[in-house]
Amino acid sequence: MSANKAEGPATASAERMVTMDKLVNLCKRRGIVFPASDIYGGLGSTWDYGPLGVELKRNVKDAWWREMVTTRTDVVGLDSAILQHPRTWEASGHLQNFTDPLVDCKGCKQRFRADQVQGGRCPECGGELTEARSFNLMFKTFVGPVEDSASVVYLRPETAQGIFLDFAALVDTQRVKLPFGVAQIGKSFRNEITPGNFIFRTREFEQMEMEYFIKPDPAEETPWFDYWVDRRFNWYVGYGVRREHVRLRPHCADELSHYSRGTTDIEYLYPFGWGELEGVAKRGSFDLDQHARYSGKDLTYFDEEARTRYRPWVIEPAAGVDRAMLAFLLDAYDEDVVEGEERIVLRLDPRLAPIKVAVFPLLRKGGQPEKAQGVLQTLQRYFTSVYDQAGSIGRRYRRQDEVGTPFGITIDHQTMEDDTVTLRDRDSTQQLRFKIGALAAELTERIGLHR
Ligand code: GAP
Repeated sequence: MSANKAEGPATASAERMVTMDKLVNLCKRRGIVFPASDIYGGLGSTWDYGPLGVELKRNVKDAWWREMVTTRTDVVGLDSAILQHPRTWEASGHLQNFTDPLVDCKGCKQRFRADQVQGGRCPECGGELTEARSFNLMFKTFVGPVEDSASVVYLRPETAQGIFLDFAALVDTQRVKLPFGVAQIGKSFRNEITPGNFIFRTREFEQMEMEYFIKPDPAEETPWFDYWVDRRFNWYVGYGVRREHVRLRPHCADELSHYSRGTTDIEYLYPFGWGELEGVAKRGSFDLDQHARYSGKDLTYFDEEARTRYRPWVIEPAAGVDRAMLAFLLDAYDEDVVEGEERIVLRLDPRLAPIKVAVFPLLRKGGQPEKAQGVLQTLQRYFTSVYDQAGSIGRRYRRQDEVGTPFGITIDHQTMEDDTVTLRDRDSTQQLRFKIGALAAELTERIGLHR
């Protein structure tokens, strides 16, 4: 939990074309991310993912799932409910501890997080501020038709608790042996006082969390914490985030979440400075202990080797889908000049790119559009592909470059004679000819989903 962590100033200056405004504009213009409820004037820091954004987001989640679940034998998946029994949040400590210090301006009535206000005056109008008071970040609602205290439930502020609640069911049904992990991706909700910086901090967001259960480790000897910090750091780098734009930051004792015995953040250099991308925490047996106490259920694990029962400890890599997407977009954004023309290009890893391949007939005659449609239909069986015949070929390439489409296929006069096409690479803009029949294999290799 990092609700009250300040974002630091930029300390590493990197040559970057991108600003947050440029990215927000591109995302809006090209249907990657739109402001939500825009026709009603918006709803402060809520965003909708458009046709390209939803593809990118799915690819980020798929990449995480492949890394954390599909390619491993020690991790299983879960999709638990957003609404859980309200005792969950008493036991987890969220009702009591998941708070930010809040101050109100007596003049303009705006609210701020006390830890983000400098000089003790209102940052907007300079007015006097109230004393700080605790503000719980969980959204409350009611189940059923009666809106009384007995029917209060909360929208989950982290996906993790569903995993702890299902611990006994997972151990009973999955024949899992320590160490093992349970991973899940899903929406979480926090009534943030100061959301902002595009999709960096919002009230509704998606998390990708994994609880990795290990033998109790009071002597702090487990290699698993360092293993997961390292693994998660390298995941971002492996998908295109520049190494100099990520760093590790261990938490000081006074900023640890109430459940944590130690946390290291993976931070990213956003345009507004260093900020959290993902947290890796040692949760000990805090959550299982609490839920065992509050539910009265046995949440132990039977260690067959040691012939003993205990509640395992947990290492938790907790990432945000939206923040990962933001980091990938920021690092992919570039501007250059191709054949004397300026272009914006998103140099996304092909595995993450929303569209993998665009198919273009050079001319809208001579059978080229029909041929191109045939190529599109073949490729659509394997990859997210689009067809575009509007405008000059140069403009069509630029349109795809700025949404990160890594490959363009052009059907021209020669195609009609020998069934070959040109395959253009987004980054180098180099074009090579291939037989249509060889395209699927060539693109599979270049996109590299098997990596
Ligand atoms: N289960 C632990 C946990 O929730 P966290 O550090 O509070 O830890 C994990 O959250 C990740 O979720 C963060 O690193 C961030 O990527 C994402 N996240 C948290 N709050 C967010 C918000 N308000 N908007 C967008 N992403 C958020």
